[in-house]
Amino acid sequence: MNPSITMPPQVAWASGALSGAPLIQKTTHLGDLNNVFADDDAWRCCDPTLAVYRVDMFDTPSGEGELYTGVTHLNPGRVGNEFFMTRGHFHARREQGEIYFGLRGEGLLLLQDAQGQTRLEPVRPGSVHHIAGFTAHRLINIGSDMLSALAVWPSVAGHDYTALSGGFALRVTADTLKLMAKEVQNG
Ligand code: F6R
Ligand code: ZN
Repeated sequence: MNPSITMPPQVAWASGALSGAPLIQKTTHLGDLNNVFADDDAWRCCDPTLAVYRVDMFDTPSGEGELYTGVTHLNPGRVGNEFFMTRGHFHARREQGEIYFGLRGEGLLLLQDAQGQTRLEPVRPGSVHHIAGFTAHRLINIGSDMLSALAVWPSVAGHDYTALSGGFALRVTADTLKLMAKEVQNG
């Protein structure tokens, strides 16, 4: 009997481009990100039609046990002193985790637990990020090029954007990067 061979879809590691299967794409513009950046006046002065990030996802089945695969492409930029970032979320089903893989660009993954404790992981080509359950997550682009990261997560996880609508406990600006650099220098 001949083996059955199916060609899988592809991710281009250097760019994060997905191909070979139907996609769902969603672009988030600055105008969609009301109350996300700390400097509201600066946000109001920005062009609301400017694209901040796009998520490309394979259009795969949902349901218990199913996984979604998607790539976030986050543009470089700032609102006031704060770097462009995703809205960020807890999963609606809090116990569900997720894996992110850095593909291109220079960024940070901001993680915040249920007690409000935050930490940052550098996102670079090849970095692997295990986002445990009960952990809110947000990507931040601290570079001057596009940041792209691949994510795999349970389709049942869902998104809760309201729990942190007042903001994460940590904001990343150029000053934050200076502090981080000092910390690395001092060991
Ligand atoms: C899925 C996931 C990512 C984000 C994407 C956009 O659980 O974490 O695919 O959905 O980076 O960020 P949000 O959803 O916070 O706008
Ligand atoms: Zn998520």
